[in-house]
Amino acid sequence: MNIKQLAAEKAVDWVEDGMMVGLGTGSTAVYAIRKLGERVQQGLHIKAVATSVESEKLAKEMSIPIIPFAEVGQIDLTIDGADEVDPDLNLIKGGGGALLREKIVAARSRQVMIVAGDNKVVKRLGAFPLPVEVVTFAHEWTIEKLASMGCTPVLRKTESGEVFVTDNGNYTVDCHFKEILNPARMHRQLNDIPGVVDNGLFIGMASTAVIAYNSGTIEILRAGK
Ligand code: 5RP
Repeated sequence: MNIKQLAAEKAVDWVEDGMMVGLGTGSTAVYAIRKLGERVQQGLHIKAVATSVESEKLAKEMSIPIIPFAEVGQIDLTIDGADEVDPDLNLIKGGGGALLREKIVAARSRQVMIVAGDNKVVKRLGAFPLPVEVVTFAHEWTIEKLASMGCTPVLRKTESGEVFVTDNGNYTVDCHFKEILNPARMHRQLNDIPGVVDNGLFIGMASTAVIAYNSGTIEILRAGK
C-alpha cells in the first residue's frame, strides 16, 4: 500500500454513523472516497458533499449519498489532501484545481482532516507553486498584479495545451514564490487583488493531519500542538 492510501484509509476510521462528510479532491482523497464507499456498502449511514465534480462522480459510483451544498448544514468532518503542510497545519492546496470548493467546504466543517504522505510536510510553505483561482475577465491584468507580489505566475494549462478551467468556470494561475514568509498576510494580499477569486493558502483551517511514512508508520498532527 502506498503512503497516500495509508494516510487516506486511516482517516476514514474517524467517520461515524450519521455524519455529514466533506469529500476532498486529488489522488490521495480518491483513496479516502473509495474506502468510505466500501464502508457505506457495508452499512455505514452518512451523507456527503463533494469538493469537485470529479470527487462527486467517484462518490456516486461508490454509492455514497451526495447532497447539494445548499442542503448541507454543518459538515462534521472533511477529509482532503494537500500540496504542502507546515508545522502550524497551514496548507497550500489547489494542485488538483479544486481550491475554491475545497475552501468553502473546509470553512463549513467542524473538523478538517488532511491526509498526505510525509513528502508534503514542509518547514515553510511556498516551494510548491501557490495556485490562485482568477476570473477569466481581464486575467492578463490580474496575472500582472500577481507578478508584482514577487512571484513568477504561470497560467495553468491542461496536458493538451488548453487553458485549464476550474469547476467554477475560472482560470488557475500557479504562483512560484519559492517561499512564503508570512502566509496569513500573503493570503489577504492576494485576495485583495481584483480578479482573484481565492488562493490556495488555507490558514488555520486544518484541525488534524494524518501523515504516512514509507516505513508504514502513521503520525497524527494536531493544530495548536
Ligand atoms: C486539489 C488539492 C489536492 O488535495 C492537492 O493538490 C493534493 O493532491 P494529491 O493528493 O493528488 O497529491 O488541493 O485541489
